[in-house]
Amino acid sequence: MTDITSEIKQRRTFAIISHPDAGKTTLTEKFLLYGGAINLAGSVKGRKSSRHAVSDWMEIEKERGISVTSSVLQFNYDGYCINILDTPGHQDFSEDTYRTLMAADSAVMVIDGSKGVEAQTIKLFKVCVMRGIPIFTFVNKMDREANDPFELVDEIETVLGIRTCPVNWPIGSGKNFKGVYDRQKGTITRFFAAHNGQKEVESVEVTLGDEHLDELIGKDNHDKLVEDIDLLDGASDELDLQRVQEGKLSPVFFGSALTNFGVETFLRHFLDMTTSPLPRNSNVGEISPFQNDFSAFVFKIQANMNKAHRDRIAFMRICSGKFDAGMEVFHIQGDKKIRLSQPQQMMAQERHHVTEAYAGDIIGVFDPGIFAIGDTLCASSKRFEYDGIPTFAPEHFAKVRQVDTMKRKQFIKGIEQIAQEGAIQIFQEFNTGMEEIIVGVVGVLQFDVLKFRLESEYRVEIRLETLPYEHIRWIENKELDISSLSVTSDTKRIKDLKGNPLLLFVHPWSIRTVQERNEELILSEFGKN
Ligand code: G4P
Repeated sequence: MTDITSEIKQRRTFAIISHPDAGKTTLTEKFLLYGGAINLAGSVKGRKSSRHAVSDWMEIEKERGISVTSSVLQFNYDGYCINILDTPGHQDFSEDTYRTLMAADSAVMVIDGSKGVEAQTIKLFKVCVMRGIPIFTFVNKMDREANDPFELVDEIETVLGIRTCPVNWPIGSGKNFKGVYDRQKGTITRFFAAHNGQKEVESVEVTLGDEHLDELIGKDNHDKLVEDIDLLDGASDELDLQRVQEGKLSPVFFGSALTNFGVETFLRHFLDMTTSPLPRNSNVGEISPFQNDFSAFVFKIQANMNKAHRDRIAFMRICSGKFDAGMEVFHIQGDKKIRLSQPQQMMAQERHHVTEAYAGDIIGVFDPGIFAIGDTLCASSKRFEYDGIPTFAPEHFAKVRQVDTMKRKQFIKGIEQIAQEGAIQIFQEFNTGMEEIIVGVVGVLQFDVLKFRLESEYRVEIRLETLPYEHIRWIENKELDISSLSVTSDTKRIKDLKGNPLLLFVHPWSIRTVQERNEELILSEFGKN
């Protein structure tokens, strides 16, 4: 095996998805703890405020105390080189959150055991399904009073529409949460809480028939476990790795990120079941990650890292081969050879300059304003293009008006630039020009980002008038005569900058009505670039 091949084989690149507060950050931190990247898991609060040190790129971020961008962490564990992509939630939820999933090979879905499947999880889950990537479920907070595990599993199946296979099973919950049963090995791991979860948890492992089991987990728990196993074996799907790879079956784990119960068990099984970087589709067919030639695509652009320079960082996922700092690559969309400068990577929780990176890794490079989301970079002798990144449906819309109409040029330039970076989407009324601009965003904070950036970088003041629309659909059969469609009174016809027709709706039921009235109409929730 060449060095490049063995490096790539060690890579695991995945995203963590969850509804805010389910425990994504805590779980990530515990992975770092088990990987030896940090010695002591700190308090979540301390960590949240220290995040600014990593990305204090925008005043809005400082003012609001949130992180506007998603980050990537790399660490090693048991011979694996792991890249975790964080998908930000709360107010900082944006299209970037979705795009991050385009760079991942699998997803870990964290669910709060007392809340079950929540709204944001559903949205992110849909994107994972669209990509067909494997989805692993970690039911967290079992140290609190949680819902019945059978009900939780059932909820995942019915609400998300994916089959599940519990890989481990909780023994008790809340204060009575003793440990987990590993269904594959037939063993019980009894954990002993200590150090408030700041250090690795101590545990004892025994088999199901062990004579000390009653002592270890209590007779009631033992009896309940035997009953549960019986039920599970009769009712749950087989652990079919092929179906897991296709994203049709989600292996489920239970644990507590706070106390570390079940965290390492999960990590081990997960790493065992996921694959190293997968081939990616391009206009010349699939590109194997193990090709020696470097290739990558841009999935995120972070603007304004340094206000004085108006610079940007383009984040790219390496899809094949090896990257060496300073190497010359070909930028397909720019039709130019370039050198990627100041490549950076997040190791544990600090930003480092990288000298080399491999397929599966994420690097951030200085962008003098030449990259757009979805761009391909490849070895200087190659010419191919990776499949584009879809445009995700915005959920908030506003009409933008300039306060000083004399500054038309700056306004157009600014708004187009910000749209090109992928922070906002811009649309126009169907039969007008750029005089009426509608902006669509996935997270409302992006409106503030737009206003702030237009003012600070382009010296243009704007007014935003929020519109009532919440749903958008791309019209796939563009040849249709849009003006002749029979629509409801709350439907608006718009087009994007490329002239693609779209429909905006206030109510979800209008989508169904319009679809019923116009049978030939093909609507899509994702736009193709
Ligand atoms: P997020 O990234 O998904 O938004 O969640 P985060 O890890 O920040 O966790 C949200 C809250 O849930 C935190 O509490 C955290 O301590 C708590 N938490 C995470 N995992 C577990 C778990 O397994 N069990 C329990 N009981 N709690 C968990 P907080 O109120 O923000 O902070 P704190 O006051 O608890 O420190």
